[in-house]
Amino acid sequence: MNHFAPIPRVPGDPILGLIDAFRADPNPAKLDLGVGVYKDAQGLTPIPRAVKLAEQHLVEHETTKSYVGGHGDALFAARLSELVLGSDSRLLASQRADATQAPGGTGALRLAGEFIARCLPGRSIWVSDPTWPIHETLFAAAGLKVNHYPYVGADNHLDVDGMLAALNHVPHGDVVLLHACCHNPSGFDLAYNDWQKVLEVVRRRELLPLIDFAYQGFGDGLEEDARAARLFAESLPEVLITSSCSKNFGLYRDRVGALIVSAANAEQLGNVRSQLASIARNLWSTPPAHGAEVVATILGDRDLKQVWLDEVTAMRTRIASLRLGLVEALRPHGLAERFAHIAIQRGMFSYTGLTPEQVRRLREEHSVYMVGSGRANIAGIDATRLGDLARAIAAVCE
Ligand code: LMR
Repeated sequence: MNHFAPIPRVPGDPILGLIDAFRADPNPAKLDLGVGVYKDAQGLTPIPRAVKLAEQHLVEHETTKSYVGGHGDALFAARLSELVLGSDSRLLASQRADATQAPGGTGALRLAGEFIARCLPGRSIWVSDPTWPIHETLFAAAGLKVNHYPYVGADNHLDVDGMLAALNHVPHGDVVLLHACCHNPSGFDLAYNDWQKVLEVVRRRELLPLIDFAYQGFGDGLEEDARAARLFAESLPEVLITSSCSKNFGLYRDRVGALIVSAANAEQLGNVRSQLASIARNLWSTPPAHGAEVVATILGDRDLKQVWLDEVTAMRTRIASLRLGLVEALRPHGLAERFAHIAIQRGMFSYTGLTPEQVRRLREEHSVYMVGSGRANIAGIDATRLGDLARAIAAVCE
């Protein structure tokens, strides 16, 4: 019997598949605006200096590679929770919130999805249209029904009214996934007063927010980017937040993230966390320790933390200047106004407004790689090639 013969091939991942396609392209002038990794002026995704220093410290001082528990590294959990919720968080002081370490933000999202499916049966999850494509497949894989609320209108603008109107009809008790900042894929973020309106709807309809926080520090600043997550955590009795250290610590392949839960009281938080540890045991048993120890070391040392803060600032500043640079490079082609949104979007990504056909032509005729939806990773642009990129975009926009 040939066991594997009936198994069909499935299409490659819409984002990770671009890594292979880009590598295989022999054109030396190729440009990678695909997967969301930060690149510096040399086109490299560097290991932050703070990470290197923390790793050196760990090499000298780490005494064991024994398992961490089901919730992971307790120091990491405490320090990351402070980074997300604020060092003066009342939730942390009153033991109403804590973090469970997971393999990356994606692991944290899967843990949240499994938790909802197991402990809140019958609840659907509502994600923005568009959203990170893996949100759709990941929650479905966890057994959740995935619904959508509008986020970007047909004219490639943030549609706050459409979002609020749709959330107003979400069944009581359902889960709503919100991007804390640097919306992936669009780059369009809610203003603070819009967040307050969303909060009111969430409160009125008794929805459970699941806040995906993967780009802290890449929008307006580490504290500024946390405002929405903190507003929700402080205003509501129960919130789920997934935090990722892939981007802001440059720890992509070390898989560092956490699911932060805030509950009405310490007793309920303990119950929820017992479920999370039990679910995690069946997914990855215990999380990988190295990257989390790196993060805990950096956040726990004043000097190291300052090195890291400066590095996050440098990354954010570079992305912001690339955004302005691209709009300026498009100006001689008469396209600065059409693409003006690139300068107001936040984080790594821009929903350019380019069609799938234009994206295909960019790849096939100009070796410019971006996600089929028209999402470009602005943080992947080589500043010396802005002119080439603008020319390629202009050619497919004719
Ligand atoms: C992205 O959206 O490109 C990143 O979040 C990387 C990933 O895992 O898809």
